Amino acid sequence: MGDYQSIYNRSINDPDGFWAEAAEDIHWYRRWDRVLDDSNPPFYQWFTGGRLNTCYNAIDVHVENGAGDRLAIIYDSPVTDSVRKISYLELRDLVAQFAGALAGQGVQKGDRVIVYMPMVPEAAIAMLACARIGAIHSVVFGGFAANELATRIDDAKPKVIVSASCGIEPGRVVEYKPLLDEAIELATHKPAHCIILARPQATATMVDGRDLDWSEAVAGAEPADCVPVEATDPLYILYTSGTTGQPKGVVRDHGGHAVALKWSMKNIYDVDAGQVYWAASDVGWVVGHSYIVYAPLLQGCTTIIFEGKPVGTPDPGAFWRVIAEHGVEVMFTAPTAFRAIKKEDPQGECIKKYDLSKFRILFLAGERCDPDTLHWAEDMLKVPVIDHWWQTETGWAIAANCMGIEFATVKPGSPTRAVPGYDVQVLDEAGNQVAANDMGSISIKLPLPPGTLPTLWNNDARYQDSYLSRYPGYYLTGDAGYKDENDYLWIMSRIDDVINVAGHRLSTGAMEEVLASHPDVAECAVIGAADSLKGQLPVGLVVLKAGVDRSDSDILSELVRLMRDQIGPVAAFKQAVIVQRLPKTRSGKVLRGTMRKIADGEQYKPPATIDDPTILGEITEALTTLGFPKSG
Ligand code: COA
Ligand code: AMP
Repeated sequence: MGDYQSIYNRSINDPDGFWAEAAEDIHWYRRWDRVLDDSNPPFYQWFTGGRLNTCYNAIDVHVENGAGDRLAIIYDSPVTDSVRKISYLELRDLVAQFAGALAGQGVQKGDRVIVYMPMVPEAAIAMLACARIGAIHSVVFGGFAANELATRIDDAKPKVIVSASCGIEPGRVVEYKPLLDEAIELATHKPAHCIILARPQATATMVDGRDLDWSEAVAGAEPADCVPVEATDPLYILYTSGTTGQPKGVVRDHGGHAVALKWSMKNIYDVDAGQVYWAASDVGWVVGHSYIVYAPLLQGCTTIIFEGKPVGTPDPGAFWRVIAEHGVEVMFTAPTAFRAIKKEDPQGECIKKYDLSKFRILFLAGERCDPDTLHWAEDMLKVPVIDHWWQTETGWAIAANCMGIEFATVKPGSPTRAVPGYDVQVLDEAGNQVAANDMGSISIKLPLPPGTLPTLWNNDARYQDSYLSRYPGYYLTGDAGYKDENDYLWIMSRIDDVINVAGHRLSTGAMEEVLASHPDVAECAVIGAADSLKGQLPVGLVVLKAGVDRSDSDILSELVRLMRDQIGPVAAFKQAVIVQRLPKTRSGKVLRGTMRKIADGEQYKPPATIDDPTILGEITEALTTLGFPKSG
């Protein structure tokens, strides 16, 4: 324990000293020449000249230090009714073997490998195997459709794609191989090979000469050793939603990432080597990268790979069973998961069935944590419940109650204060800091700390345009909110077209592109309406082309199907309505914010620049047919 304020001040005033000290916790083949390399602003790099291997730091180092028998991964899969435990020694051998299999398919340092997998240990093994040989992985979430996968294939240009015959959602088997084949068909870039994990629930049809079975690929492989890479070399690319249909390829480096994540395990999450840590997310999201795979392993913890849901697998006691059965001390998930549990088990009857005595702290992130959910979790679990705020781009928390440093008073609705390393400031339109409690654009003064994105994949210009150009010298988070008089941050909304559905980040711009591609659609808008379970849900408002005389309901169901086929089930796009016109400003900008307020039943004032205010009455009426505004 320490004093938050003095640790935070040091991180801002002496970043070199602060992060050099943290870097002592990592194994380096060669020490760095510079801690913060600011020779090319606004592009900053950390630990230039240093050489390391992330996989070595996550696995081998623990084996060499005598912890080979410690459990590295517990795979708990209620959807297949199985549990598998993998020690650090076993994990090292599995990863080395698969790294050898990748090398056998021609994968070398710097090559990209796409991983399109369900929540099975092999997903983590594939990621770590890439890290071992210096290949760059790009994991694509299984809930995305072929088209989204194809976009990522064309951007990352992988030599190999690793996938599985299927994923398992409650009540249905999701066959991955047909989606993968379709994506490769759609993409311009073609991978040389695909390695497919055969799962008993579905058989994959293999393409001769291109596809290999996972077990055959590893059977003939020579185990591969860790390859030293530059601290600034990319470890992975993770695509995330931006304002358009073209996702942003967030790049993560090796050195800064390993240092920051290891530091975060003790200082933010208060977790030590040997303890069981569980992030109930998916390897396809940043939370899965950082806190299912890399950080817990770097810290020598046991991590849990959970293939199930908070409810329905089989009941709302699934989380408590896992915590009790595997001795979880600290857990991390999204508020939406707790809202789902609360809805089915409001009195917490299922909690009473389990011994949760080892459980110490619950962390929540991914979306705004509403005070009701926070209080319910506190009442039920009787442990600190900590909201923390971050994003794919940063890779680890920007604001948190740093439990390993100093437990601060919890203010429900706020993720507490800036984490050491992040100089968070709230700016007005002109780029000046606003006063306490005034809303503004939440920005981070450059340089960002280690572990955050150095750039976007092959697109320095988009990195600058999207994040650095709005306020020179600052990184734009895309979130709006304020700091109170105690420096607590309050994250209130996005300033762009990003919405957050069940903790999943989605782009309304990308959804509008899909709707607009329907032959009967002239114009459309997608807004994120408040939802008591998922936080937000997308709602489409569609204007048809003149002369279209097909039935509205046929067109609407085609639009729902199109979204599922083009973006994927994860978009949760089920509500759309046909309107005669969309409200716009005189310059033609669609008033999405005003429509969102109408859907949410909030007070609104039409902007002075509105072209024709009478349209708002039509929109209100149309949204009423979908049941908006919803109560509760
Ligand atoms: N592969 C294929 N389909 C998937 C998928 C995957 N990996 N993950 C989700 N889907 C599908 C779901 O089956 C669902 O399909 P449906 O429309 O046929 O029902 C759809 O995508 C929407 O999924 P989701 O938004 O997750 O809703 P849900 O109703 O299945 O579950 C929760 C709701 C709240 C239980 C669930 O979202 C959850 O557990 N969230 C936890 C938060 C989380 O993981 N956040 C990540 C960041 S921390
Ligand atoms: P993602 O990149 O998917 O992690 O999504 C990041 C975005 O989710 C942030 O920019 C916020 O808009 C939102 N978000 C994440 N965590 C929180 C939180 N604790 N409170 C409020 N919003 C959050």
